[in-house]
Amino acid sequence: MSAFNAILVASDGSEHSLRAVEVAGRMAASDNTPLYVVNVIRDMQFPQALSRMAEVERLVGTRSDVLKYVADKILKDAAQVAKKAGAKTVEQVTTSGDPATAIVESARDKGADLIVLGTRGLGGVAGALLGSVSRKVSNLADQNVLIVR
Ligand SMILES: Nc1ncnc2c1ncn2[C@@H]1O[C@H](COP(=O)(O)OP(=O)(O)OP(=O)(O)O)[C@@H](O)[C@H]1O
Ligand SMILES: [Mg+2]
Repeated sequence: MSAFNAILVASDGSEHSLRAVEVAGRMAASDNTPLYVVNVIRDMQFPQALSRMAEVERLVGTRSDVLKYVADKILKDAAQVAKKAGAKTVEQVTTSGDPATAIVESARDKGADLIVLGTRGLGGVAGALLGSVSRKVSNLADQNVLIVR
């Protein structure tokens, strides 16, 4: 019997997150657990009055096309790493919003009872051991959380 119903691993494309994907891939492989790889596109915040300007609307549209493209590429690479580590069933999930909140919600949606993350990500502020997303996920989640060093 599998230790987990399903595993969800979060990737922002960083080296740290790809190490987490590798570990999650190996875990999924060992007992044939479904694996979800998720990338969260961060919300952009600006005053509402600005978002109603036609020019801003057009630029925001272009920006989200680019971000969607990048998210797809990050997930494709992550899925490849997971499969190379032996995972059989890998599903890619793109979502948006606050990364930590969206990661926890995706896990709930997919019925994943283990969330796997890297210690750090693309932010890379020197000194701190944990990034804000891994810290917030471990605070928010009622699922198990594995932070890969
Ligand atoms: N946008 C995202 N989508 C999916 N997973 C993410 C995202 N951002 C972070 N993660 C996950 O969280 C882990 C830790 O990244 P985090 O963002 O907390 O660190 P950081 O980028 O170094 O710091 P900060 O973002 O606080 O500047 C990553 O290795 C990855 O697993
Ligand atoms: Mg980050």
